[in-house]
Amino acid sequence: MDQNYTTVEGAVVGVLMGSASDWPTMSKTSETLDKLGIAHECNVISAHRNPERVTAYCRDTEQRGVKVLICAAGGAAHLAGVVAALTPLPVLACPMKAWSLEGLDSLLSMAQMPKGIPVATFAIGSAGAINAALFAVSMLALNDDAVKARYAKFREDQSAEVQQLPR
Ligand code: RP5
Repeated sequence: MDQNYTTVEGAVVGVLMGSASDWPTMSKTSETLDKLGIAHECNVISAHRNPERVTAYCRDTEQRGVKVLICAAGGAAHLAGVVAALTPLPVLACPMKAWSLEGLDSLLSMAQMPKGIPVATFAIGSAGAINAALFAVSMLALNDDAVKARYAKFREDQSAEVQQLPR
């Protein structure tokens, strides 16, 4: 069994991506989680190149305390769907721009999951990568007052940064 992935003690979010080429975008997910003090682990795990690694990773993720998984992939983007099939954890899907169609292929692959195994699909590229992290934070905040307070502060700061005049 391919166990070539890294786990982080205390991680509550797992960030998975189909290729290291997704990292320039998905590093924004990791940075956002760091900003909000969320312990997480990041791994490159391809559904089609490392199917055994996907299975091995998903086997004990929930038992290790991970609460949410964020999956990024491009093209015929099946990683999120495969992960959602292997674990009952909520799966947030980030469509990558990849090499063609400006990421529309990835978006539709993720958003058009057949009924029964859901994934929550975000915007293509950086906006989705950041929003998936924030959405994970909002889910964790439901059961963690410290996270809730940090998330509220983040939103307040963000609102305050919007300048009043267009100049
Ligand atoms: C997907 O194919 C990856 O998630 C990536 O977005 C895309 C291209 O991968 P590489 O060919 O750059 O490794 O599996």
